[in-house]
Amino acid sequence: MLSPFMDPAGRRISYLRLSVTDRCDMRCLYCMSESMTFLPRDDVLDYDELLRLARVFVRQGVRRLRITGGEPLVRKDIGDFLLALRPLLGQAGEPTRLDEITLTTNGSRLVEFAGLLVRAGVRRVNVSLDSLDPARFAQVTRRGRLAATLDGIYAAREAGLAVRINTVAMAGVNDDEFDALLAWCGEIGADLCLIETMPMGETGDSRIARYLPLSDVRADLARRWTLEDIPDRTGGPARYVRVGETGQRLGFITPMSHNFCSTCNRVRLSCTGRLYTCLGQEDGADLRELLRAGADDAAVAQAIDQAIGRKSARHDFMLEPTSGRVAGPARHMSVTGG
Ligand code: GTP
Ligand code: 5AD
Ligand code: SF4
Repeated sequence: MLSPFMDPAGRRISYLRLSVTDRCDMRCLYCMSESMTFLPRDDVLDYDELLRLARVFVRQGVRRLRITGGEPLVRKDIGDFLLALRPLLGQAGEPTRLDEITLTTNGSRLVEFAGLLVRAGVRRVNVSLDSLDPARFAQVTRRGRLAATLDGIYAAREAGLAVRINTVAMAGVNDDEFDALLAWCGEIGADLCLIETMPMGETGDSRIARYLPLSDVRADLARRWTLEDIPDRTGGPARYVRVGETGQRLGFITPMSHNFCSTCNRVRLSCTGRLYTCLGQEDGADLRELLRAGADDAAVAQAIDQAIGRKSARHDFMLEPTSGRVAGPARHMSVTGG
């Protein structure tokens, strides 16, 4: 019998990604199609349901919670929800409490929310930013305004939040900008994380044409920057180096070229209440159905344990530029929360 939150490969699951909406005010090339249709409101968990599930996960062993979307800050009353999560951080020494609550955002509403995030106990945020060029930023996000995201990032830094910039590396789109992004992150005191594109859902853009293996990017950057390996203690997908010239960290998330599944510490809950134990697999559990059928917390906890007991050893994503083969789930990243 597996102990709760230990998966079949012996990985302890202590991290939950909680998606609060599939909606977004942008339509990034690698994430959504231009004509994305969003889920009916009733399909999405309400805040009471989300809060109840978060509490069950914490009671069962989750210690780190990341709020995701879509874009989490576009959901109505998200501020109240974040403040309602804060008590899960508890007091030092309490046996079942969160160590941290974090958020992944496109930054468009950070000017408005940075102060509230701090009051809600958030200490660090990851902000998506694929280009520092306004026209290119508009091309990648299809709807976004660079100035709004930059103002959001500056507001987050001023409010005292640690910031990591997430950049999806795309051949022919932003592969000439990594030096500029590294230098700019040094100036504002942010970490940078480069991400390989994952084939999830149709977006109207070619996955193969955009795919850029990050080992090549790292080797190229190492010609101009001092990159010192730092031990991996995060349990997350990013592998970090310290950039000697700036003192900031540079991360690489390489699901396609070097998967990090053997150290996976996480599961994710879609905004529809479906638990996915692996981003690149379909298996999981429908927790919304259980909640709406009147199940008690013990039954919900049991369903979570059973799903984690089946967690796949690794994802099945595939992107093969030579043969042109692409494989990944039909669902979009924006529904699953990454
Ligand atoms: P930490 O909380 O610091 O570990 O951050 P993170 O890198 O997990 O969070 P973020 O939301 O910024 O995600 C960055 C990228 O990592 C996104 O493209 C996610 O889809 C991807 N990612 C996060 N977790 C996983 C995972 O378990 N498997 C895969 N393949 N990708 C993941
Ligand atoms: N592949 C890789 N990263 C993606 N993101 C969104 N879609 C994809 C994809 N298909 C990234 C965003 C954001 C994070 C939540 O996931 O850039 O930073
Ligand atoms: Fe929105 Fe994030 Fe998807 Fe871009 S990556 S469309 S910002 S959910």
